[in-house]
Amino acid sequence: MSPAMELLPHLSLLSFFLAFLLVAPTYAGDERQSYIIHMDKSAIPAPFATHDHWYASMLSSISDSDVGSPTHLYTYNHVMHGFSAVLSPSQLAQLERMPGHIATYPETYGQLHTTHTPRFLGLNRHVGLWPAAQFGDDMIIGILDTGIWPESESFNDAGMSPVPDRWKGACEAGTEFNSSNCNRKLIGARSFSKGLKERGLNISTIDDYDSPRDYFGHGTHTSSTAAGSPVRNADYFGYAQGTAIGIAPMARVAMYKVVFNTDTIESASTDVLAGMDQAIADGVDLMSLSLAFPEDPYYVNPISLGAFAAMERGIFVSCSAGNRGPQAYTIRNGAPWITTVGAGTMDRDYAASVTLGNGSIAPFQGRSFFPESLYISHTPLYYGHGNASIETCNNYTLDPKDVAGKIVFCSFGNVSNQMLEVNRSGAEGAIFATDSAQFLYPDAFYMPFVAVSLEDGEKVKEYIVASSPATVDIKFQLTVLGSKPAPQVAHFSARGPYRLTPGILKPDIVAPGVNILAAWAPNRGWQPIGNDYLVTDFGLVSGTSMSSPHLVGVAALVRAVHPDWSPAAIRSALMTTAFLMDNTHGPILDMSTGTSATPLDFGGGHVNPNKAMDPGLVYDIGVQDYVDFVCGLNYTSDQMKILTRQSNYTCTKPSLDLNYPSFMVILNNTNSTASRFSRVLTNVADGPSVYRAVVYAPAGMRVVVKPDTLKFEGKNSRQGFEMSVEIDMAKTDMVRIKSDYIGNYGYLSWYEVGGKHVVRSPIVSAYGQ
Ligand SMILES: *[C@@H]1O[C@H](CO)[C@@H](O)[C@H](O)[C@H]1NC(C)=O
Ligand SMILES: *[C@@H]1O[C@H](CO)[C@@H](O)[C@H](O)[C@H]1NC(C)=O
Ligand SMILES: *[C@@H]1O[C@H](CO)[C@@H](O)[C@H](O)[C@H]1NC(C)=O
Ligand SMILES: *[C@@H]1O[C@H](CO)[C@@H](O)[C@H](O)[C@H]1NC(C)=O
Ligand SMILES: *[C@@H]1O[C@H](CO)[C@@H](O)[C@H](O)[C@H]1NC(C)=O
Ligand SMILES: *[C@@H]1O[C@H](CO)[C@@H](O)[C@H](O)[C@H]1NC(C)=O
Ligand SMILES: *[C@@H]1O[C@H](CO)[C@@H](O)[C@H](O)[C@H]1NC(C)=O
Ligand SMILES: *[C@@H]1O[C@H](CO)[C@@H](O)[C@H](O)[C@H]1NC(C)=O
Ligand SMILES: *[C@@H]1O[C@H](CO)[C@@H](O)[C@H](O)[C@H]1NC(C)=O
Ligand SMILES: *[C@@H]1O[C@H](CO)[C@@H](O)[C@H](O)[C@H]1NC(C)=O
Ligand SMILES: *[C@@H]1O[C@H](CO)[C@@H](O)[C@H](O)[C@H]1NC(C)=O
Repeated sequence: MSPAMELLPHLSLLSFFLAFLLVAPTYAGDERQSYIIHMDKSAIPAPFATHDHWYASMLSSISDSDVGSPTHLYTYNHVMHGFSAVLSPSQLAQLERMPGHIATYPETYGQLHTTHTPRFLGLNRHVGLWPAAQFGDDMIIGILDTGIWPESESFNDAGMSPVPDRWKGACEAGTEFNSSNCNRKLIGARSFSKGLKERGLNISTIDDYDSPRDYFGHGTHTSSTAAGSPVRNADYFGYAQGTAIGIAPMARVAMYKVVFNTDTIESASTDVLAGMDQAIADGVDLMSLSLAFPEDPYYVNPISLGAFAAMERGIFVSCSAGNRGPQAYTIRNGAPWITTVGAGTMDRDYAASVTLGNGSIAPFQGRSFFPESLYISHTPLYYGHGNASIETCNNYTLDPKDVAGKIVFCSFGNVSNQMLEVNRSGAEGAIFATDSAQFLYPDAFYMPFVAVSLEDGEKVKEYIVASSPATVDIKFQLTVLGSKPAPQVAHFSARGPYRLTPGILKPDIVAPGVNILAAWAPNRGWQPIGNDYLVTDFGLVSGTSMSSPHLVGVAALVRAVHPDWSPAAIRSALMTTAFLMDNTHGPILDMSTGTSATPLDFGGGHVNPNKAMDPGLVYDIGVQDYVDFVCGLNYTSDQMKILTRQSNYTCTKPSLDLNYPSFMVILNNTNSTASRFSRVLTNVADGPSVYRAVVYAPAGMRVVVKPDTLKFEGKNSRQGFEMSVEIDMAKTDMVRIKSDYIGNYGYLSWYEVGGKHVVRSPIVSAYGQ
């Protein structure tokens, strides 16, 4: 297929950016299936020099007269010990009897879930984290996604130093891709599709490239968001013009393509494990994944398994929290060794200005992404019934004869349906009165459409009813900076608690994820307009898929300043310094309700890069702490061996109370409870310091911190404290945090005495499921 193909059917962005749960399909008839086989590495028989030889010999020794030999897919060395293969039931039974075999799990399937963001995040060329981190110089960010469009200007390597010797990655050749597509910015690109192909998906015959080249545009977008080079004069059909730049513009990108464009399945667990295995072997410093698998236990889910191994090697792993919000318990990728990222809005909006009649009513703006610089002048306005109590623009309510050449006004209703009706009717365009709960994607604006607030909708309505003739002027393609309030937590952003381990608050943090401008694959139509599609080098998209690469970019900057910090220390710094106020100095709002967001929406808050560089103290977590946490989950010894990849793992102090920078109390069928937490803080600032605990707790939450003063000798000195939290729901002003969720929350902040550092953690209580 040709990469220049421009007018292909448009994929629904809406469905594409939702993160979904896919149930592993079962097959009638074909009994061969892909499996992930976990082995006890230490049981390798003496004659074998390598594990590869051992596994190959196992596979060749099992037989099934009906189907021949098993097919080997991948051998895994880092994310787990073992391999994946396609086996018949009889082959599986034979394999399970072999010495060294621990467990076998069937393949699972998963799916995916700027210019302006650096400035919104306060990143500045001259002060703060950007110059301190030398813009992320030499950090290597591994992105597991849909591939990359290497010709994008965001991956030009002007001014970058030679690739460091420690890098072991490669630029793999394949369809429309070869080694000359890599450079000093894009230093590695690989593709993993064996698992999907085993499902009978012929990647060369569907709309994708069997190579690291991106068909969707999604991986190009996430990579350039995290580490794109500056591109001047980037824009999206005239909106958001400016210099597009990644969060860590001097960091390097390695793409591991593990998501493909198929009708139903996008990603196979065998392929994702292989991608993460290779990323670890190649030497990435950080990883970002904007996709999710079913929420199986930690020893089955490929992302939690791979992230555990990455964490052990000091690799920071950031993942999207999913787009199933705003209900409670919708978090994905919530393992405590993953940094789980929700999505917030920015202070940039896309608008059209509306002037009614002769302008005696002050002109106002509404949201629009219509991609043409159109000026509609003195055009008649049409309002269905002229009766405010009837919802207008419902199916088949507009008569083409009435609306020809007119702008239709649609009162509050289902905008998606109303848009279809306006389009069907053949009207010139439309103004929709709507609230922010109806989230409109850019590609919905395929006609001259403007979405105005309910208040402004009333003005339009009153004007039309009072005026004859009623006319309107509309000017499209306005970009509004400094819109307020911002940020807000996006309505689609997944909310805590996390089903698998509710005692760890998730998400950890939010980062920009709404209408993000970044590089896109210009291989096909993107924005519908009339019956046509426009192609773009830069896409404007939304999702927690976009917030994870923002966060990993910030983590790369922090890591560049503090190369000795563990992933948990970096996350602690990001969480405890996050901000809780928006640009009106009010609390960050939840877009789905218009009321204050809570830690179940945003974890520690909204990422605040310059502060994260210097948090004062961190809550660190070591590998053994995570092992003890998993011990506390009462996994069997085999399950423990799989996750830790150790046959001699030890549970030194099994406990679900990790040294986490947040506190969560789950109420199980009770209205009052007491919980205890133990924490250790590490001083990461220079010199001695003293900190004092300050608790903010609502009625019904009693918090006691002992001791409430901590003295640190100097850098890297550590001090512990105990905290007890008593909840009495009968006494509390319960916050209805979500329609389906009740709880309350407070904060513990450690204030440096005579210093500037404040180390803040949320304390949340919530009813269990
Ligand atoms: C890679 O592809 C480009 C364009 O298709 C071609 O010009 C170049 O010679 C190829 N390089 C290698 C190393 O094959
Ligand atoms: C898959 O692709 C190969 C090579 O491109 C082709 O020979 C084969 O016929 C295709 N198979 C199917 C089922 O489409
Ligand atoms: C504008 O139109 C309104 C009615 O729609 C009318 O009352 C007003 O006098 C007009 N103003 C001008 C300056 O023509
Ligand atoms: C508006 O519509 C409602 C509901 O159909 C009806 O009861 C009412 O009489 C209408 N008002 C006018 C002014 O036509
Ligand atoms: C309008 O049409 C849409 C799609 O064609 C359909 O799903 C919806 O139920 C219809 N609504 C009404 C009120 O008939
Ligand atoms: C609008 O209606 C469509 C189906 O007609 C439905 O899928 C969608 O969820 C509705 N949107 C809202 C905001 O209710
Ligand atoms: C808009 O109407 C045109 C003409 O009827 C049709 O071809 C097109 O599919 C419609 N667009 C959408 C998004 O429904
Ligand atoms: C693990 O087992 C212990 C002892 O039986 C029990 O007290 C604890 O609640 C269990 N923990 C979980 C997470 O199931
Ligand atoms: C387990 O054994 C490996 C090598 O056999 C050793 O490197 C490791 O330190 C041991 N781990 C523990 C927790 O004893
Ligand atoms: C409630 O149940 C969860 C999950 O089983 C457990 O982790 C937590 O400790 C329990 N909370 C209380 C207060 O008992
Ligand atoms: C908890 O409080 C709610 C509301 O006051 C009450 O309906 C419920 O019965 C109480 N549950 C328990 C276990 O006491």
